[in-house]
Parts: sequence; structure tokens; C-alpha cells
Amino acid sequence: HGTSKVNAKGHLEIGGIDTVELAKKFGTPLYVYDVALIRERAKGFKLTFENLKVPAQVAYASKAFSTIAMVQLAEEEGLSLDVVSGGELYTALAADFPRERIHFHGNNKSREELEMALKHEIGCIVVDNFYELELLNSICEEMKMSTKILLRVTPGIEAHTHDYILTGQADSKFGFDLQNGQAEDALKKALTFEKIDVLGLHCHIGSQIFETTGFILAAKKLFEKLHEWKEAFSYESKVLNLGGGFGIRYTAEDEPLPAAQYVAEIIEEVKRLAEHYSMAMPEIWIEPGRSLVGDAGTTLYKIGSRKEVPDVRQYVAVDGGMSDNIRPALYQAKYEAVLANRALEKADETVSIAGKCCESGDMLIWDLPLPKSDSDDLLAVFCTGAYGYAMANNYNRLPRPAVVFVENGEAKLVVRRETYEDLIRMDISLKQKINN
Ligand code: LLP
Repeated sequence: HGTSKVNAKGHLEIGGIDTVELAKKFGTPLYVYDVALIRERAKGFKLTFENLKVPAQVAYASKAFSTIAMVQLAEEEGLSLDVVSGGELYTALAADFPRERIHFHGNNKSREELEMALKHEIGCIVVDNFYELELLNSICEEMKMSTKILLRVTPGIEAHTHDYILTGQADSKFGFDLQNGQAEDALKKALTFEKIDVLGLHCHIGSQIFETTGFILAAKKLFEKLHEWKEAFSYESKVLNLGGGFGIRYTAEDEPLPAAQYVAEIIEEVKRLAEHYSMAMPEIWIEPGRSLVGDAGTTLYKIGSRKEVPDVRQYVAVDGGMSDNIRPALYQAKYEAVLANRALEKADETVSIAGKCCESGDMLIWDLPLPKSDSDDLLAVFCTGAYGYAMANNYNRLPRPAVVFVENGEAKLVVRRETYEDLIRMDISLKQKINN
């Protein structure tokens, strides 16, 4: 998919570059991003709204992969940006992202984070709870600044996905409950705050979702309430943010519609709802993360050791693992992979790909058909672009891999590989005399 193909040497090529050359030049493990594919996905979402003539913002959920280069790419494609922490906001500011298109999420933003958001006059703060609403208001008063907000609500929807990435159900740590009056109380309170402009509502029902049903149900519940509130106290929502969560294809088991097509179906329904309740069509915001960058990322690993458990399994180990991709260990996530340097050869054994961390759970792929591999072969694991680098860690003091962007036969290093020196940079020796 994307610009991936097998070249005349039988090597996997991405963005017009031989992955064997990439591994030689930048080392392994290595995250490789197909920039053209990210652009294509971004354009797909934007075009959907243009075709439907619906004013919209497509905000890239930068938690999926936040780096300066990625934020710059999001800007190039005219996206808005969703950040969820001071760190992601700092990255966006360092990338000089247009502030008015930054949206700030999170269920426990600190005073410092809120002050930072106000100081830089970002576009919108998505308020999650009563504590935050009061805190934000008092900071606005102190700083004599105004801000736009959305209220994050939980519509009480159970989407079909892994429990840890479900977020729209009533028993969730996120947002104001829409059903039990919390959301209404929050809105009434927010409307009394002079320095706070409530643009509208936000909801996010979960992640890696394959059906439009959940989104449509959520939209229905939101419209019911908005209608009530319009009648009761003339509140009209200018913006409706439906979150992200559009599923992608990790393996043949997954069969998502193209995300832009999902969105089209959902928006058609929102238009019908607006008409049904005789309400003005609000501006629609969405927040895709995974569906913008997930399948654009491929991780290259060098194969090393092998262990046979006779009659049971062949373990083939690579030079990374749960430190650069924790998703299999955390969510039982599944991936597909090929030998990048022998991409045309037929599979003649089934192996399980182990990482190199000191933990039995550090497995990347179970039961993968592959040509019989040797040490030094190159393994390419697909669809690692979302929540791979973003959730990478230094377990076992493994340095985090480098990231390269490839496009039109050019490779750009966008995150350099960590060194051992980087790993101890924050450490303070007991032998150091002055310690403050
Ligand atoms: N908006 C909100 C409010 C969110 O909480 C999320 C994801 C998104 C947008 C983007 O969702 P996406 O389009 O990427 O599915 N680490 C997990 C995913 C956690 C998602 C958290 N929130 C994983 O690796 O699957």
C-alpha cells in the first residue's frame, strides 16, 4: 500500500527508497514514514468535507506521533492540531504551528498547562470536568484573558474495540456525562463565565473503530441535548467535535472502510439531524490520529538470534521490541511483516517474532509465515506509524530508534537515534559533590 513496493533487487522500497539502504544508512530499528501516504490521507479527509460543503476542521491527534517534523507536515496539509499535554503543546509551538488551530485536550490539565495555553492564545481548550472549568475561569480572570472552549461529553456509547481504548462509555474517566445532567450543569456554569466562550461540544467514543454506528448514535444523543438546550435556554452550538478513532487495517483480519468514507457517512447523518431539529448545521471538527499516520509507518529491524522449541515454535528475535512498539504487549495488537531484503521469496516456515527485552511478554508477532531467515536479514513490520514511536520507552535502557521521512526518493532524518549518552543525561551521580 502507499508507495511501498518491491524493487528489481527484490527489496522492499518505500517512498522510492530501498529499505535495505535506509537500514544501512540510519541503522535499526528504524521507523520509516511514507510521507506521500500521510498527505493522501489528510487530503482525503479534507476533500470529504469540501464535497459535502460542510465547514470543518480536521485536527491531527498528535498523540499518535508527535514530533516537530510531523507537526510541520500537518501544517503543510492544512490540518488543525489536537494536543493533550504541555509537552505536545510545546512541540507544536516549537514547530511554529498556527496557534489558532491548536486544540488542547486532557482530563487533568495542570494550572501551568492551562496558563501556557492561554499565554500562547491557542484556538480552543477542550474542558473535561468541573475542576478544570473553575480553574480555567480563575486563570482567565487572573491573566485578564479570554478563551474559547468545547465541553467534552461522554454520550454513553460502547464502541467495539479493546477495553483500554474505549472512551465514550458512561463509566469513563473522561468528560461530562451527557445523560445524568452533568453536561447541562457544566454548560450552564460555563455560560456564566464572561471570559469563556463555549463554542460547542466534543465527544470521542474510542479508537480503532470499524463501524459508523457508534459515531452516528453519539451524534444523535448530542443533537437531542442540543435541541433541548436551545429550547430551554437558547444555547446554540457553533461547533461539534466528533473526535477520532477511525480504524485502520493492521492485518487481513481488519476490514475498515477508507476513513474518509466513514466520515462522509457520519456527516450525512449529522446533516439530517440538524435538519430534523431545525438547527443550523454546526461546524464539524474531527480528530483522526491513527488513520492519518498509522499505515504510513513501517519499522525496520535486524534479525538476530533464533531459538527452537521443538515441535512447538521457532522464536526469531529482532533488535527492538516492546521498547519501540508496546502495542502487542499492551493490547494484543497484531501486525504483518515481511523480510525486506528478500521480499519476493515465498514463506516456507512459521516463526514468532520476539523482541530483545528481558520479559516473556515482549513478542511482536506470533505465528508469522516467512521465508527461512538468517541473522542480519531485515524485517519490516507494517502499520507502526501510530502509537509506536509515541509510546516508545527506554525499558532495559534501549535507546529509542531514529525516525526517517521518505518521499519521492528522498530520505530525511526527523528524529535522531538516542545514544547511550542520551540515556544517562538526566542521571545524577551519588559521587557528585554539589547536588541541588
Ligand atoms: N481524540 C481524542 C479525544 C482521543 O482521546 C484520541 C485517542 C483521538 C482523538 C485519536 O484517536 P485515533 O484516531 O488515533 O484512534 N495508544 C492506543 C490508542 C489510544 C487512543 C487515545 N485517544 C493505541 O495504541 O491503540
